Amino acid sequence: MPETVLVTGGAGFVGSHVVVELARNGYAPVILDNFSNSTPAIRTRLEALAGRPIPCVTADVRDTVALRNAFHDHPIAAVVHCAGLKNVAESEARPLAYYDVNVCGSLSLVEVMGEAGVATLVFSSTASVYGDTGSGRAREDGTRTPASVYGRTKRIVEDFARDLHAANANWRLAIVRKFNVAGAHSSAMMGEAPRARSTHLLPQLCRVAAGEASEIVIRGHDWPTPDGTALRDYVHVQDVAEGFVRALRHVAAQPGLIAVNIGSGTAHSVLDVVAAFERACGRSIARTMAPRGPGDIGASCADIAHTEQLLGWRPTRGLDAICADAWRWQKNGARY
Ligand SMILES: NC(=O)c1ccc[n+]([C@@H]2O[C@H](COP(=O)([O-])OP(=O)(O)OC[C@H]3O[C@@H](n4cnc5c(N)ncnc54)[C@H](O)[C@@H]3O)[C@@H](O)[C@H]2O)c1
Repeated sequence: MPETVLVTGGAGFVGSHVVVELARNGYAPVILDNFSNSTPAIRTRLEALAGRPIPCVTADVRDTVALRNAFHDHPIAAVVHCAGLKNVAESEARPLAYYDVNVCGSLSLVEVMGEAGVATLVFSSTASVYGDTGSGRAREDGTRTPASVYGRTKRIVEDFARDLHAANANWRLAIVRKFNVAGAHSSAMMGEAPRARSTHLLPQLCRVAAGEASEIVIRGHDWPTPDGTALRDYVHVQDVAEGFVRALRHVAAQPGLIAVNIGSGTAHSVLDVVAAFERACGRSIARTMAPRGPGDIGASCADIAHTEQLLGWRPTRGLDAICADAWRWQKNGARY
């Protein structure tokens, strides 16, 4: 019998790729999602790519009754927790919504896992817990000084995961700090398809190349970086999904708590990415400069030595593959 893994937020950008990767590795994923930033229509694609039925529970992670029912209805052995809100600027404007979904949602999930006797959890955290990494690379044991409400909500969840593990060493917890997840599935059947217009760089570039928007808006051009635009560590969504499965395998094999960075270890400026995307799509991209956004930072880059040593993971797809796959997804409609 394949092991059942609950993927919260499994219809979202990262979660959907995790679902397919879990199935490819012999697991039986079950999705729990409230579809606030995704659509149930993704299921057909997921089942085609996974080659197996993917049960889908429509529920909010804050709803403990619905969670209890999900654990009752499915033989869940482990959880990958991807459900959450992730927009930095929005988190500054709507802090309580972010504390509610990201913190209270994680608490309710862990509470129900405890009741159900399920002790294996991979938590989708973020590079935002580190804040600005300047010219260096963030290490997992380094300081965490998030610059946004979003980053602070994720740091709180990381901290209560540590406290939970200190109180009960039977928990098997993986904190996965993802850097800038980008690209799309190489099949062009899955990619980023948020309900509202994404402010992420790659979706913006795709829309302009497809003629759906006239220009991209570059927020911040006065950072202390080589070209003045922000530096980010872009990592392909399929590499990210592979990292999640490795983290799950690791904690499932031995009780404990691990924290790992999932990034590329290389920082690219916004203008670097624009140039790479122009090469991928064969068009030039109009751009306009705007002031920095609230909660924004100049640089974010991962040190991935610990992840490589602990999980044997490193990304295999670079910036060109990220751009090529994002563009193929756009040309395929970028919708479910
Ligand atoms: N995309 C990135 O670059 C990135 C980087 C670092 C960390 N992360 C984290 O990874 C996770 C997934 O990110 P994503 O890019 O896939 O985002 P996404 O918005 O595409 O996916 C999140 C999913 O969670 C669902 N969801 C939201 N609130 C929910 C709730 N209360 N109950 C149930 N489902 C809910 C949404 O409908 C969506 O399907 C987030 O927690 C985010 O903070 C993302």
